[in-house]
Amino acid sequence: MSTKPASSRKSSVGKVHLPPKAFAAKARIGSMAAYERLYRESIKRPTDFWAREAKDLQWRKPWTKTLVWKAPFAKWFVGGKLNVCENCVDRHAEGPRRNKAAILWEGEPGDRRTLTYGQLHREVCRFANALEAAGVRSGDRVLIYMPMVPEAAIAMLACARIGAVHNVVFGGFAADAIADRLEDSGATTVVTADGGWRRGKVVALKPAVDEALRRYKHVKRVIVLRRCGNPVDMRAKRDTWWHDATAAVSARHTARAFDSEHPLFMLYTSGSTGKPKGILHTSGGYLTGTHATCKYVFDLRDEDVYWCTADVGWITGHSYIVYGPLAIGATQVMYEGAPNFPDFGRFWKIIEDHGVSVFYTAPTAIRAFIRAGDHFPAAADLSSLRLLGSVGEPINPEAWNWYHRHIGGGRCPIVDTWWQTETGAVMIAPIPGATPLKPGSAARPFFGIDAAVLDDAGRECPPDQEGRLVIRKPWPSMARTIHGDPARFKKTYWSDYPGLYTAGDGARRDKDGDFRIIGRLDDVLNVSGHRLGTAEIESALVAHPAVAEAAVIGRPDDIKGQAVAAFVTLKTGVGETSALKEELRRHVAGVIGAIARPDDLVFAPGLPKTRSGKIMRRLLKELITTGSISGNITTLEDFTVIDTLRERIGGEPTP
Ligand code: PRX
Repeated sequence: MSTKPASSRKSSVGKVHLPPKAFAAKARIGSMAAYERLYRESIKRPTDFWAREAKDLQWRKPWTKTLVWKAPFAKWFVGGKLNVCENCVDRHAEGPRRNKAAILWEGEPGDRRTLTYGQLHREVCRFANALEAAGVRSGDRVLIYMPMVPEAAIAMLACARIGAVHNVVFGGFAADAIADRLEDSGATTVVTADGGWRRGKVVALKPAVDEALRRYKHVKRVIVLRRCGNPVDMRAKRDTWWHDATAAVSARHTARAFDSEHPLFMLYTSGSTGKPKGILHTSGGYLTGTHATCKYVFDLRDEDVYWCTADVGWITGHSYIVYGPLAIGATQVMYEGAPNFPDFGRFWKIIEDHGVSVFYTAPTAIRAFIRAGDHFPAAADLSSLRLLGSVGEPINPEAWNWYHRHIGGGRCPIVDTWWQTETGAVMIAPIPGATPLKPGSAARPFFGIDAAVLDDAGRECPPDQEGRLVIRKPWPSMARTIHGDPARFKKTYWSDYPGLYTAGDGARRDKDGDFRIIGRLDDVLNVSGHRLGTAEIESALVAHPAVAEAAVIGRPDDIKGQAVAAFVTLKTGVGETSALKEELRRHVAGVIGAIARPDDLVFAPGLPKTRSGKIMRRLLKELITTGSISGNITTLEDFTVIDTLRERIGGEPTP
């Protein structure tokens, strides 16, 4: 890898931005030479690097072995004991950060709350006591379905404190998705709210839980936060208000120590099949990874005001709202609502009002802001910002440049962070005081992360050749398994190349060793940075009585990155009406959630299939993207279906 200054270099997509001198002077890693020295060392002896980082945490009992690795199952800091919640809350509340703001919360209607570390400690202890009083014990699964309010973080931390395993379900998911996750995780307790505010309206949450609980009967206790005051049904014996459950209990709670490998949470994510996977993360390793990346990638310091705009329902919210930033003792903003309420100036106003210095958001949001107009950020004072981050999907260079100029004022480095639910923490990203930035490139692997791009034969691809992104060595925050299905864990991530983790993403490395992530190689869509399986949407569609068959693909979309396009074959005798089209789109939203609602729905009398009956999604993708087919169609079973579909979407005749 090259260490020569990049000031005169041009990347394939334009200018290379060097870290500003003032930033580098103060940064923990202030030059590329320093990065490369530490990186080399960390790859030669990853366990030494990670053991050093793990010592930043508070352990009740030291570990005896840093790593036990029986591919693909890892155990980190074996024999060590800690309490994750104590690391995120108590150790700050008991020290000089006691009166430091942990969470600066803003509700969508404009209501505000500040929780210092001392206050957060009391709230978390109260809720831990409430959970225990409700019979929740270490190892029990607790499903959390909440709006973006401090209580969502409090509930997660309280679970961690008592050793219960949380399973946060994004508030945009529907009742069926909740029921599936309850069933798969075997949850006995649900924490939810009456509703949350979104775009000026109350989005009710409790009714979806009620509906899910009609299907799944094993939940003994539902704790409900009153956020919006919308009417909800409270079922006697089963349902309790949060304020009642916490009123009678103490604000003190003694935290027990748990094994480093004690399960911390499971989080469901989409894969290539219809059934989301419960990705399981454990304690010591996960916290080490999220803490270390907050330190080096976000360069978080006591004086920073950090804001990650993700929802706690996704991995970004787990790792970079709750665990990483709190473990490092940061002050952070948490915002409940939509970026465009009351208008597209909201985020910039929040940055100005709270003096945000480190801001982490998604490319899809940036593209929506570009479309809304430069005058929104221009109207706010954004001079408090010093570092920007991007996550969730590839950031196109145009969006990168706009973000750099209009939000960062040309002075803030941008860390484009590549990682996944399964990796737990950031894996590939610039180190802001060191890395020359190329718009659209996630740059280099984090310390201890041995990333590579391989071809189908398992050889490392030469510069600029696209291949599969793999990780060759275990890392502490890696997923330990898929809940209840270790065989699927092995098959999905560890079978393309023996002993190596396959991310499912395509990537290329340039001659400097910088990674550019191309996107998913499997049947997973990335809609506004959210992962959705095509198979999940297809099975929702075929569950509708009018539908015989469905094929779902992602088509490029200027704002969302990808939009959902569904091709649907109806059962014989069912009329193709626009009312039915609407009903099917609504049906998908009702089964999975509004994020999965198809943007395009095309009635297809037949779907293109191979002679062995496999749907050729590749052709549908090409058809909806370009309006015609130029690729190989020799394996197609019935050529006429393509012509029919082309006519329906108004495309060009196939040559
Ligand atoms: O395709 C990659 C994309 O998001 C996928 C992971 O999705 P999820 O588990 O929901 O986690 C999202 C937040 C970490 C990856 O397989 N992805 C994530 N970050 C980037 C990205 N693609 C390109 N560049 C990124 N920075």
